[in-house]
Amino acid sequence: MRLSFSAACAAVLPCLPAAPVPAQEAPPHVSESILQRQEGMYAMEAALDALERMTDGRLAPDTGLAIDLAVRLSVWAGSLADAFPDTPASRWGPASRARQEVWTDPGGFLARALALEEATGALTRGLAAGGAALVGPQTRAVRAACTACHAGYLAP
Ligand code: HEC
Repeated sequence: MRLSFSAACAAVLPCLPAAPVPAQEAPPHVSESILQRQEGMYAMEAALDALERMTDGRLAPDTGLAIDLAVRLSVWAGSLADAFPDTPASRWGPASRARQEVWTDPGGFLARALALEEATGALTRGLAAGGAALVGPQTRAVRAACTACHAGYLAP
C-alpha cells in the first residue's frame, strides 16, 4: 500500500521541520519591531513639531510641556540605534524604509544617532536654563540631526 507523504509522515516517519525560507524571499509580512521603531519615529516627529510650533509662536510656550517633550526625545534618541538590530526581519522587512546602509555602515549610523542624542540633551538643558521661548537654535539643531540621518539612511 502506498501512503501519501503526509500520511506516511504521520504514521511512521519523524516529521522534519520545513526548510527555512531565506528572508529576502519570504512572503510579505509585518514585523513587529519595524512597526515599533516607526511608531517611535512618528512620536519623535510629533514631539519635535510641537516644540517647533512653540519656538516660532504658533503654540503658546509652555516650559513644563516642552521639557517633557525634550526628555522623551532624549530617551528615544538613546535607544534609537538598538531599534535596528541586524536580523533578517529587521533588515529586509517589506514595511521598512530603512536603507541597507544602516547595517553596512553601522559606524556612520551610530554617529548620527549619537548626534541626535547630543542635540536632544542640549535642548533639554536649554529649556531648563532658559525656558521654552529661548530654545529656537537647539530645536533647529535637533531637526538638523533628524534630517542628517535620514539623508543617508532613510529610503525615499
Ligand atoms: C540615526 C538615524 C536617524 C535619526 C537620527 C532619526 N531617524 Fe527617523 N528614521 C530613520 C530610519 C532608518 C527610518 C526608517 C525606519 C523603518 O522604516 O524601518 C526612519 C523613519 C522615520 C519616520 C517614518 C518615515 C516613514 O514614512 O516610515 C519619521 C516620521 C522619522 N523617522 C522622524 C524622525 C525624527 C523627527 C527624528 C529626529 C527627532 C528622526 N527621525 C531621527 C533614521 C533616523
